[in-house]
Amino acid sequence: MKTQVAIVGGGPSGMLLAQLLHVRGIDSVVLERKTKDYVLSRIRAGVLEQGLISLMEEAGCADRMHAEGFTHNGTLISYGDEMFRVDFTEHTDKPVMVYGQTEVTRDLYAARERAGGPIEFEVEDVEIHGADTTSPYLTYRVGTQERRLECDFVAGCDGFHGVSRQTIPLDVRREYEKVYPFGWLGVLSETPPVNEELIYANSERGFALCSMRNDTLSRYYIQCSLSDSPNDWTDAAFWEELKRRIPKDQADKLVTGPSIEKSIAPLRSFVTEPMRWGRLFLCGDAAHIVPPTGAKGLNTAASDVHYLYNALRDFYENGSEAGIDGYSEKALDRVWKTERFSWWFSSLLHRYPDQSPFDIKMQVAELEFLRSNKAAQRAMAENYVGLPY
Ligand code: APR
Ligand code: PHB
Repeated sequence: MKTQVAIVGGGPSGMLLAQLLHVRGIDSVVLERKTKDYVLSRIRAGVLEQGLISLMEEAGCADRMHAEGFTHNGTLISYGDEMFRVDFTEHTDKPVMVYGQTEVTRDLYAARERAGGPIEFEVEDVEIHGADTTSPYLTYRVGTQERRLECDFVAGCDGFHGVSRQTIPLDVRREYEKVYPFGWLGVLSETPPVNEELIYANSERGFALCSMRNDTLSRYYIQCSLSDSPNDWTDAAFWEELKRRIPKDQADKLVTGPSIEKSIAPLRSFVTEPMRWGRLFLCGDAAHIVPPTGAKGLNTAASDVHYLYNALRDFYENGSEAGIDGYSEKALDRVWKTERFSWWFSSLLHRYPDQSPFDIKMQVAELEFLRSNKAAQRAMAENYVGLPY
């Protein structure tokens, strides 16, 4: 089998790239390790930057997003019983959209199926060959059938545990990592959100986040120990702890209910450089990971896809290699700025086991500065709504 662009990974990065290429008449084949149902069962964050919304519009997949998504013009930040709002549109004239990343992926799958886009599920033993040549190819297995896919380019959209990053030789790769000493325990509940906007909470007991998917489906998180497991937390214990971490007036109106999903995610900052090796290009979680504070995972994958999609268009439509040659540097410039914001926002809101009383004073002073200084709020707002592509 032959295609122009072989895409490893059928998550949001791979599917967004495939659909954008399709709209421009560029063929691709997606190889996905899991089943479609498994991919669409993943619960992920739900805040979208305007850049991703514009890409979904360009891909012809934004109708349901605009119909069901919620525009948010600001967010709330609390510490103890204090709470203040950062107004995005006051500082940047850009809102964000609250719409589940699972729904983004679902919309992309629906578009690929409408277009008859080739995707192979439950592929195994994917190997990328000749990435450092002008005729790379992939080998893989489906069941007992060995297969080969000839291509011009390979897009490694296979996430943090994928094969693409590992294909780049160790002596070429430079990796940077920070592992955070806590996790996020997340609960999905069929309850009305406690507030119409998100609340990011710093409390002496640890971080909490009040989010939502729609007006009858809420998403809550509390910072927890890495030694915890979801089964250690009854719903009652979760709700009680959440109430102790958000302002009393919010806690008093919190509507609780049974969890329909409960999971713990570890937090990590990670970047691999370069994001290109020959005809192999890394996109999204295959190249970088951010802590979820600020919901930059998919939004940073989207900017990678934007750069790679336009680079490939330039190659096929104009015969120019400028875009593919500049991809890694351009993508990494924005990746590092997003890594910084996610790290800063995490440092501002979480309690760290090794924090001294002075460190806590610095955290509260930073929160007070953010609360009282318009320039500080503008800097935060510009990062939160998404830096320019
Ligand atoms: N072969 C084929 N597919 C693979 C392989 C492999 N060897 N390894 C992983 N995959 C698939 C996974 O099953 C998954 O569906 O690649 C996909 C990667 O998807 P994600 O991990 O969601 O990464 P990405 O598409 O970059 O999404 C970026 O969006 O999902 C949100 O916040 C999340 O940060 C994440 C962001
Ligand atoms: C979510 O709704 O899951 C969410 C929102 C904002 C974040 C992280 C997660 O920063």
